[in-house]
Amino acid sequence: MLMIGHRGAKGYAPENTLLSVRKAMELGVDCVEVDVHLLGEDLIVLHDETLERTTNGRGRLENYSFEEIRRLDAGLGEKIPTLPEVLAVTHGVVDLNIELKGKGSSDALIKILDNPLFDDHEKLLISSFLIEELRTLRAWNSGLKIGVLASHNLDESFDWCIKLKAFSLHINQQQLTLDIIKKAHRSGLKLYVYTVNDRKEMEKMEKIGVDAVFSDFPDRRPA
Ligand code: G3P
Ligand code: MG
Repeated sequence: MLMIGHRGAKGYAPENTLLSVRKAMELGVDCVEVDVHLLGEDLIVLHDETLERTTNGRGRLENYSFEEIRRLDAGLGEKIPTLPEVLAVTHGVVDLNIELKGKGSSDALIKILDNPLFDDHEKLLISSFLIEELRTLRAWNSGLKIGVLASHNLDESFDWCIKLKAFSLHINQQQLTLDIIKKAHRSGLKLYVYTVNDRKEMEKMEKIGVDAVFSDFPDRRPA
């Protein structure tokens, strides 16, 4: 079972910062997950649409300019990184799961992935709850690995996986059942589960065939 560092290694460093990404890599994760939002024409690495939970800023991201965002402290003096900054650290070294949080973010991502600096897409998995973003990506590149983040309607999410020729279906712990694992595997999909921080839970998931877990503590691998 693969171990994916959630927002880097959220349990050990300020989430979605370069420090967190590097910490996850140090801990030997199989993959690092980060969340990205579109701000103007840039993709920045942040989970929320508002700033107060993870930075010393206030209010909505959309009310800030890129320069203002970059002056904020995202914890321990870390800046909110851009996606290319994260890619510069991970590219060719470790798998990266880019979770697209904002509308229109797929077009900005395509521009970045078209850059010869980042044109090796083998180690990338792009996921989102936003089906429109995933559709844009699939239309652009038939080989890109796509992960569908499941909605409350799992049947619908499975249908989207098939239509998008997805690589994986990502569900939360509460949605996990043996049937879903079987159905995913029958459909040729990997089944990824978030966010799992308890080692015993991880052990159980590994036994029943979960393919990967997202964890804030990605060093808590099952024995
Ligand atoms: O991509 C898995 C997980 O990160 C989805 O939930 O809210 O932590 O981005 P969230
Ligand atoms: Mg996420």
